[in-house]
Amino acid sequence: MRDVRISYLIEHPEYIPQLAQWLFDHWGSILGEQTPDARIEKLKAHMSRDKLPIAWVAHADGQLFGTAALRVHDLEGREDLTPWLGGVFVGSRFRRQGIGAALCTAVEDAARSRAIRTLYLFTLDLQTWYSHLGWTVLAPCVWHEHVGDIMFKRLKVA
Ligand SMILES: CC(C)(COP(=O)(O)OP(=O)(O)OC[C@H]1O[C@@H](n2cnc3c(N)ncnc32)[C@H](O)[C@@H]1OP(=O)(O)O)[C@@H](O)C(=O)NCCC(=O)NCCS
Repeated sequence: MRDVRISYLIEHPEYIPQLAQWLFDHWGSILGEQTPDARIEKLKAHMSRDKLPIAWVAHADGQLFGTAALRVHDLEGREDLTPWLGGVFVGSRFRRQGIGAALCTAVEDAARSRAIRTLYLFTLDLQTWYSHLGWTVLAPCVWHEHVGDIMFKRLKVA
């Protein structure tokens, strides 16, 4: 898609209500949430440029497309692994146009520029999608009673 920008969430707090609604609609039932309020608080905690957690948004001309984040920890019980790519989400109307891949690349670039050499993530069902983006399955995991996999990616230094 043309003209998509990827910016720090802290530069665009106006997108937080829409993001919270999307994330609540997608993951709220697994997390046992009744309203998007907890999503709003969690997103606010990602409003940073330097200290993790950091979130980014993909957008253009006031239109929000998606988000992704860099976090110290993302999966309870695996605090031995750090840091993590998490919260990757593209609005359903904007999928399959390369925005999700661009968000992942932006987070990887940000990690690389912070001297991070290995990134982790967990996914319930997108192992194939992430493997196309260069990620490798590390180990199975369970998240809120749902089975998935932890994946990792070594970040090449330019
Ligand atoms: C997963 C997600 C972020 C992908 O976003 P997207 O913007 O559609 O992804 P992209 O367009 O960058 O995908 C790149 C490639 O993967 C393909 N692809 C997209 N979604 C796919 C899927 N669910 N399964 C397999 N392939 C997929 C695209 O066709 C594209 O292939 P191409 O470059 O050969 O055309 C989006 O579907 C989403 O937000 N899903 C719900 C939230 C979620 O599950 N997040 C991941 C949590 S681990």
